[in-house]
Amino acid sequence: MKKILIQFAHPAFHKSRINKELLKDIELIDGVTLRNLYEEYPNFHIDVKYEQQLLVEHDILIWHHPFYWYSAPSLLKEWIDLVLEHNFAFGKNGTALKGKLVMSAITAGGSKQAYTKEGYNHCLIHDLLLPFRKTAELCKMKYLPPFVVHGTHLFDIEKTKKMADDYRKLLISLRDDVFELKQFGQCRYSNDLLETSKI
Ligand SMILES: Cc1cc2nc3c(=O)[nH]c(=O)nc-3n(C[C@H](O)[C@H](O)[C@H](O)COP(=O)(O)O)c2cc1C
Repeated sequence: MKKILIQFAHPAFHKSRINKELLKDIELIDGVTLRNLYEEYPNFHIDVKYEQQLLVEHDILIWHHPFYWYSAPSLLKEWIDLVLEHNFAFGKNGTALKGKLVMSAITAGGSKQAYTKEGYNHCLIHDLLLPFRKTAELCKMKYLPPFVVHGTHLFDIEKTKKMADDYRKLLISLRDDVFELKQFGQCRYSNDLLETSKI
Protein backbone atom coordinates (compact mmCIF):
# COMPACT_ATOMS: atom_id res chain seq x y z
CA MET A 1 0.00 0.00 0.00
CA LYS A 2 1.37 3.42 -1.03
CA LYS A 3 1.33 6.37 1.35
CA ILE A 4 -0.18 9.58 0.00
CA LEU A 5 0.58 13.08 1.24
CA ILE A 6 -1.93 15.77 0.23
CA GLN A 7 -0.54 19.29 0.56
CA PHE A 8 -3.68 21.41 0.35
CA ALA A 9 -3.55 25.18 -0.08
CA HIS A 10 -6.67 27.37 -0.05
CA PRO A 11 -6.41 30.89 1.40
CA ALA A 12 -10.16 31.25 1.89
CA PHE A 13 -11.25 27.75 2.84
CA HIS A 14 -14.13 29.10 4.94
CA LYS A 15 -15.72 30.30 1.67
CA SER A 16 -14.99 27.10 -0.26
CA ARG A 17 -17.80 25.09 -1.83
CA ILE A 18 -15.95 22.65 -4.04
CA ASN A 19 -12.78 21.84 -2.11
CA LYS A 20 -14.70 21.52 1.10
CA GLU A 21 -16.65 18.72 -0.53
CA LEU A 22 -13.58 17.15 -2.17
CA LEU A 23 -11.81 16.93 1.17
CA LYS A 24 -14.74 15.69 3.22
CA ASP A 25 -13.60 12.57 5.14
CA ILE A 26 -10.59 12.23 2.84
CA GLU A 27 -8.18 11.87 5.76
CA LEU A 28 -10.17 8.88 6.95
CA ILE A 29 -8.89 6.95 3.93
CA ASP A 30 -6.23 4.56 5.12
CA GLY A 31 -2.79 5.67 3.89
CA VAL A 32 -3.76 9.29 3.21
CA THR A 33 -2.25 12.21 5.14
CA LEU A 34 -3.97 15.55 4.62
CA ARG A 35 -2.16 18.79 5.39
CA ASN A 36 -4.05 22.06 5.26
CA LEU A 37 -1.15 24.45 4.69
CA TYR A 38 -3.00 27.69 5.47
CA GLU A 39 -4.17 26.16 8.74
CA GLU A 40 -0.70 24.86 9.61
CA TYR A 41 1.17 28.00 8.63
CA PRO A 42 -1.10 31.08 8.83
CA ASN A 43 2.03 33.24 9.14
CA PHE A 44 3.91 31.46 6.35
CA HIS A 45 6.56 30.18 8.79
CA ILE A 46 7.03 26.77 7.23
CA ASP A 47 8.75 24.08 9.28
CA VAL A 48 11.07 22.95 6.51
CA LYS A 49 12.65 19.97 8.28
CA TYR A 50 9.26 18.59 9.33
CA GLU A 51 7.87 19.00 5.81
CA GLN A 52 10.90 17.22 4.36
CA GLN A 53 10.47 14.39 6.83
CA LEU A 54 6.82 14.03 5.75
CA LEU A 55 7.90 13.84 2.13
CA VAL A 56 10.40 11.11 2.88
CA GLU A 57 7.74 9.11 4.72
CA HIS A 58 5.28 9.18 1.80
CA ASP A 59 5.35 7.70 -1.70
CA ILE A 60 2.95 10.02 -3.49
CA LEU A 61 2.64 13.79 -3.15
CA ILE A 62 -0.45 15.72 -4.19
CA TRP A 63 -0.44 19.47 -4.67
CA HIS A 64 -4.11 20.20 -4.12
CA HIS A 65 -5.43 23.74 -4.57
CA PRO A 66 -7.93 25.95 -6.30
CA PHE A 67 -6.50 27.49 -9.45
CA TYR A 68 -5.78 31.13 -8.59
CA TRP A 69 -4.50 33.51 -11.23
CA TYR A 70 -3.47 30.60 -13.44
CA SER A 71 -1.36 29.10 -10.69
CA ALA A 72 -1.35 27.97 -7.06
CA PRO A 73 -2.11 30.12 -4.00
CA SER A 74 1.06 31.72 -2.69
CA LEU A 75 1.62 29.51 0.36
CA LEU A 76 2.03 26.46 -1.84
CA LYS A 77 4.67 28.31 -3.85
CA GLU A 78 6.36 29.27 -0.57
CA TRP A 79 6.28 25.60 0.44
CA ILE A 80 7.92 24.62 -2.86
CA ASP A 81 10.52 27.38 -2.56
CA LEU A 82 11.56 26.43 0.97
CA VAL A 83 10.98 22.69 1.29
CA LEU A 84 12.44 21.46 -2.00
CA GLU A 85 15.96 22.39 -0.98
CA HIS A 86 19.18 21.83 -2.86
CA ASN A 87 20.86 18.59 -1.76
CA PHE A 88 17.51 17.36 -0.45
CA ALA A 89 15.22 17.47 -3.47
CA PHE A 90 17.61 18.29 -6.29
CA GLY A 91 21.29 18.68 -7.06
CA LYS A 92 23.98 15.99 -7.05
CA ASN A 93 23.17 14.77 -3.54
CA GLY A 94 19.49 15.66 -3.62
CA THR A 95 17.84 12.32 -4.14
CA ALA A 96 15.32 12.17 -1.27
CA LEU A 97 12.35 12.34 -3.63
CA LYS A 98 13.70 10.25 -6.46
CA GLY A 99 11.06 7.98 -8.01
CA LYS A 100 8.15 9.30 -5.95
CA LEU A 101 4.95 10.28 -7.74
CA VAL A 102 3.46 13.74 -7.69
CA MET A 103 0.15 15.01 -9.02
CA SER A 104 -1.68 18.34 -9.11
CA ALA A 105 -5.31 18.20 -7.95
CA ILE A 106 -6.99 21.40 -9.00
CA THR A 107 -10.36 23.08 -8.98
CA ALA A 108 -10.78 25.76 -11.64
CA GLY A 109 -13.54 28.21 -12.42
CA GLY A 110 -12.73 27.89 -16.12
CA SER A 111 -14.37 25.09 -18.10
CA LYS A 112 -12.43 22.43 -20.00
CA GLN A 113 -13.35 24.25 -23.22
CA ALA A 114 -11.97 27.53 -21.81
CA TYR A 115 -8.61 25.78 -21.40
CA THR A 116 -8.12 24.88 -25.07
CA LYS A 117 -6.19 26.66 -27.83
CA GLU A 118 -9.48 27.86 -29.33
CA GLY A 119 -11.06 28.66 -25.96
CA TYR A 120 -11.14 31.71 -23.70
CA ASN A 121 -7.63 31.18 -22.30
CA HIS A 122 -6.01 30.07 -25.58
CA CYS A 123 -3.98 27.39 -23.84
CA LEU A 124 -4.32 24.13 -21.98
CA ILE A 125 -4.29 24.02 -18.20
CA HIS A 126 -1.33 21.68 -18.71
CA ASP A 127 0.65 24.54 -20.29
CA LEU A 128 0.08 26.60 -17.15
CA LEU A 129 1.06 23.68 -14.94
CA LEU A 130 4.43 23.35 -16.65
CA PRO A 131 6.37 24.93 -13.72
CA PHE A 132 4.95 22.21 -11.44
CA ARG A 133 5.89 19.46 -13.88
CA LYS A 134 9.39 20.83 -14.36
CA THR A 135 9.82 21.20 -10.59
CA ALA A 136 8.81 17.56 -10.15
CA GLU A 137 11.20 16.46 -12.88
CA LEU A 138 14.10 18.41 -11.41
CA CYS A 139 13.42 16.56 -8.17
CA LYS A 140 13.51 13.27 -10.09
CA MET A 141 9.84 12.67 -9.33
CA LYS A 142 7.25 11.42 -11.79
CA TYR A 143 4.57 14.03 -12.51
CA LEU A 144 1.22 12.38 -13.23
CA PRO A 145 -1.48 14.02 -15.34
CA PRO A 146 -3.48 16.43 -13.19
CA PHE A 147 -6.86 15.70 -11.61
CA VAL A 148 -8.88 18.77 -12.55
CA VAL A 149 -12.37 19.87 -11.57
CA HIS A 150 -13.25 22.30 -14.35
CA GLY A 151 -16.06 24.86 -14.40
CA THR A 152 -16.68 25.07 -10.67
CA HIS A 153 -18.85 28.20 -10.98
CA LEU A 154 -21.58 26.15 -12.62
CA PHE A 155 -21.46 23.22 -10.21
CA ASP A 156 -24.54 22.11 -8.32
CA ILE A 157 -24.28 19.90 -5.27
CA GLU A 158 -24.77 16.71 -7.27
CA LYS A 159 -21.92 17.44 -9.67
CA THR A 160 -19.72 18.45 -6.76
CA LYS A 161 -20.45 15.18 -4.99
CA LYS A 162 -19.66 13.20 -8.16
CA MET A 163 -16.29 14.95 -8.41
CA ALA A 164 -15.59 14.29 -4.73
CA ASP A 165 -16.39 10.64 -5.35
CA ASP A 166 -14.00 10.57 -8.34
CA TYR A 167 -11.23 12.15 -6.27
CA ARG A 168 -11.72 9.58 -3.53
CA LYS A 169 -11.60 6.74 -6.10
CA LEU A 170 -8.45 8.15 -7.66
CA LEU A 171 -6.72 8.39 -4.28
CA ILE A 172 -7.63 4.82 -3.43
CA SER A 173 -6.43 3.55 -6.79
CA LEU A 174 -3.15 5.44 -6.40
CA ARG A 175 -2.72 4.03 -2.92
CA ASP A 176 -3.42 0.50 -4.15
CA ASP A 177 -1.33 0.83 -7.32
CA VAL A 178 -4.31 0.00 -9.52
CA PHE A 179 -3.01 1.80 -12.61
CA GLU A 180 0.34 1.40 -14.32
CA LEU A 181 2.44 4.48 -15.06
CA LYS A 182 2.00 3.69 -18.74
CA GLN A 183 -1.77 4.19 -18.35
CA PHE A 184 -1.26 7.59 -16.76
CA GLY A 185 1.05 8.45 -19.65
CA GLN A 186 -1.75 7.77 -22.10
CA CYS A 187 -4.26 10.21 -20.66
CA ARG A 188 -4.40 13.98 -20.48
CA TYR A 189 -6.21 14.17 -17.14
CA SER A 190 -6.01 11.59 -14.36
CA ASN A 191 -9.80 11.93 -14.24
CA ASP A 192 -9.88 10.11 -17.60
CA LEU A 193 -8.55 6.91 -16.07
CA LEU A 194 -11.61 6.67 -13.86
CA GLU A 195 -13.86 6.83 -16.92
CA THR A 196 -12.21 3.80 -18.45
CA SER A 197 -11.80 1.72 -15.29
CA LYS A 198 -14.43 -0.06 -13.27
CA ILE A 199 -13.42 1.34 -9.93
C1 LIG B 1 -8.31 35.11 -6.46
C2 LIG B 1 -8.93 34.12 -7.39
C3 LIG B 1 -8.27 33.80 -8.57
C4 LIG B 1 -8.83 32.87 -9.44
N1 LIG B 1 -8.14 32.57 -10.58
C5 LIG B 1 -8.64 31.63 -11.43
C6 LIG B 1 -7.91 31.27 -12.61
O1 LIG B 1 -6.84 31.80 -12.92
N2 LIG B 1 -8.45 30.33 -13.41
C7 LIG B 1 -9.64 29.70 -13.13
O2 LIG B 1 -10.06 28.83 -13.90
N3 LIG B 1 -10.34 30.01 -11.99
C8 LIG B 1 -9.87 30.95 -11.16
N4 LIG B 1 -10.55 31.26 -9.99
C9 LIG B 1 -11.75 30.48 -9.64
C10 LIG B 1 -11.39 29.42 -8.59
O3 LIG B 1 -10.46 28.51 -9.09
C11 LIG B 1 -12.63 28.66 -8.13
O4 LIG B 1 -13.52 29.60 -7.59
C12 LIG B 1 -12.30 27.61 -7.08
O5 LIG B 1 -11.50 26.60 -7.64
C13 LIG B 1 -13.55 26.98 -6.50
O6 LIG B 1 -13.20 26.17 -5.39
P1 LIG B 1 -13.69 26.48 -3.90
O7 LIG B 1 -15.20 26.48 -3.90
O8 LIG B 1 -13.11 25.41 -3.07
O9 LIG B 1 -13.13 27.85 -3.53
C14 LIG B 1 -10.05 32.23 -9.13
C15 LIG B 1 -10.72 32.57 -7.95
C16 LIG B 1 -10.17 33.52 -7.09
C17 LIG B 1 -10.91 33.86 -5.81
